[in-house]
Amino acid sequence: MKKHLLYILAVSNPFGYNQAMKNIKNTTFSHKKIEIGPESGYDNYIMAIESSCDETACAIVKNGREVIANVVASQIKTHAKYGGVIPEIAAREHLDSINIVIDEAFAQAKETCGLNPKDITAFAGTVGPGLVGCLLVGLNAAKTLSLVYDKPFIGVNHLNAHLCGNYLDTDLKPPFMALLISGGHTQIIDVESYSKQTIIGETIDDAVGEAYDKVARLIGLPYPGGPRLDKLAQEGNPKAYILPQAKVDGFNFSFSGLKTAVLRLVKDLKAQYNTEELPQNIVNDLCASFQETASKTLAKKLKKAVEERGYNQVVIAGGVAANSEIRRKIFDFEKDGYKVFAPPMKYCTDNAAMVASCAYFNTNTFDDIDVEVFSRVK
Ligand code: KG4
Ligand code: ZN
Repeated sequence: MKKHLLYILAVSNPFGYNQAMKNIKNTTFSHKKIEIGPESGYDNYIMAIESSCDETACAIVKNGREVIANVVASQIKTHAKYGGVIPEIAAREHLDSINIVIDEAFAQAKETCGLNPKDITAFAGTVGPGLVGCLLVGLNAAKTLSLVYDKPFIGVNHLNAHLCGNYLDTDLKPPFMALLISGGHTQIIDVESYSKQTIIGETIDDAVGEAYDKVARLIGLPYPGGPRLDKLAQEGNPKAYILPQAKVDGFNFSFSGLKTAVLRLVKDLKAQYNTEELPQNIVNDLCASFQETASKTLAKKLKKAVEERGYNQVVIAGGVAANSEIRRKIFDFEKDGYKVFAPPMKYCTDNAAMVASCAYFNTNTFDDIDVEVFSRVK
């Protein structure tokens, strides 16, 4: 892959094909008929790029489920110095890593199954939601690859992609009820078919990942707070402190009250122990009590939603789906006869394999090469 090719500005729209209503994308591309999706009748290899936040990732997935190559360059070390993601620095790091992850993905695909760049059926990239400067790097790379290799381009919604992480290496088929929990979102989604998804509940304030990160910061844990809090919680007593569970209508959530309750408790405990640095056992108990309350709320609403809809499958997705206690409580649904799916850790946090899967399965994608990035949920 020639480096300079990635800097070509992908601004024209030579493709402009229509989206069929079936679970298939049909297009005539460079005088060839190309069909993408589970009903296409031949093997699809999709290369995808993800760069919405602090991971630069590239993957190649066969028929939406089989991961042929998967490369992730994480920026955690860089942002840890600042206690959070600095958008401008993140975008610059994506620029440094993008060609490397693409080259590595092509190399992995060659090694695992002799796949060459010309064998790729289509190129996909995350369009949003995310940090605009970051998204631009990955999306323009994906568009450029599609121009260079003369293949269709598919733009993907990051949230839909997280859900599709559950199709990787599994035989999961809709319908199912999904809980999407990430740094920016907390949603219950009714997935009727590969392309028909309805959000039936969401947070009215903080996302659960955001609450984890904020609580972690006020307890004094370094970035990224969520996974560190999870680890300490496993050493603590979940019943040590009774924290409030917000009462919100329907399937909606609220986590800002819980966060404020922890803030008050931390202040009180610091005054009580007369120290800025709380003893480790107290910190562990705080983490366990917060985790218990947050996971209980999520599991309760998800259970209600799946019972009401009458599905027998439940799915969790997004970075926070890596959380040990949330997984445990939701996998407990299996005792009541539900089939529970959760991606392995590597497909919970941001990666490009889920983007490739989404480009294959989901017909609600943005298939024009002139599609623009967007920062917030559309
Ligand atoms: O999906 P993701 O990688 O990025 C977004 O699209 O937001 O999710 C990142 C979020 C962060 O808030 C991070 O703290 C949280 O997922 N997270 C966790 C765990 N692992 C990641 N939160 C709680 N427990 C974990 N084990
Ligand atoms: Zn994400």
